[in-house]
Amino acid sequence: MKSIGVFTSGGDAPGMNACLRAVVRAAIYHGVEVYGIRRGYNGMINGDIFKMKSSSVSGIIQTGGTLLKSARSEEFLTAEGKKKAFDQLQLHGIGGLVALGGNGTFTGAAHFGDEFGIPIVGAPCTIDNDLYGTDYTIGYDTAVNTALDAIDKIRDTADSHDRVFFIEVMGRDSGYIAVPCAIGGGAEVVMIPESQLTLPSIINSLEEGWKRSKTSSIVIIAEGEVEGGATKVAAKVREALPYLDVRVTIIGHVQRGGAPTAQDRMLASRLGIACVKALLAGKRNVMAGIINDELVYTPFAETISRKKSISSDFVEMMDILSV
Ligand code: F6P
Repeated sequence: MKSIGVFTSGGDAPGMNACLRAVVRAAIYHGVEVYGIRRGYNGMINGDIFKMKSSSVSGIIQTGGTLLKSARSEEFLTAEGKKKAFDQLQLHGIGGLVALGGNGTFTGAAHFGDEFGIPIVGAPCTIDNDLYGTDYTIGYDTAVNTALDAIDKIRDTADSHDRVFFIEVMGRDSGYIAVPCAIGGGAEVVMIPESQLTLPSIINSLEEGWKRSKTSSIVIIAEGEVEGGATKVAAKVREALPYLDVRVTIIGHVQRGGAPTAQDRMLASRLGIACVKALLAGKRNVMAGIINDELVYTPFAETISRKKSISSDFVEMMDILSV
């Protein structure tokens, strides 16, 4: 393989740039040409492709966002879109791809790789940490720390005013961000898509806290939780316990930006290099990940179809720590 392409796709994640840097430098180190593809699959379709040098990725290891920009592509879902993308890769002599993204990115990559026979290796970049085949995804540690910083600040004002705050964190399908935010932020309750916690039990635990003279409380809610998010849950609690002074904060996209933590920079650099090495060793349609500190490659088909579950230890920890 003489030449590879690299792109970032789906929701951006802090550390994507560090990973891109590692991919570009690893390719050059191994004597392979490397092309950057802008705006994910859209850029592939439109031929928004340019040759990268080592200096193209200078000064980005510490930055959030993605130098290559990102997009979610409708056209790539069509057979015609995929064919256009493949033609562009051939035009540029690109023989393999490194995909930096999450579930949607790897679903597209799995189909593309199978249909057109192009080898693709992925690095897990998503703040959600919901990908099977790696203990941690790139961007997750930064996002949790960003959210936790906000929660600490909210706790100050919650205490001052004797209020109950419902704080919504990201996580469309998973509670991976919510759980460490709840434990690390000293929350009373955490609501996540995976849990069995019902609204009556939450109302009950807030009521019990009130009876124990607990004057302020923090409830962390993952956006994908079944009751419909912080605003809806807070409204129902207000109705049931009108004497509580309730407020809502949705932390939102601030979790997706900012300088990556040391842990994310290391993970991104390690996995970026691993992707290039894997392509050169003939691997295809796999995601590189780290499990128990060992480098592992998981087929895209498995990554996108299997669910990474949250340890029940965390649920017990919440119960213990919020007595
Ligand atoms: O997948 C990462 C993520 O940040 C989710 O947690 C969130 O639900 C979603 O992306 C938001 O996507 P968008 O930026 O397209 O609104």
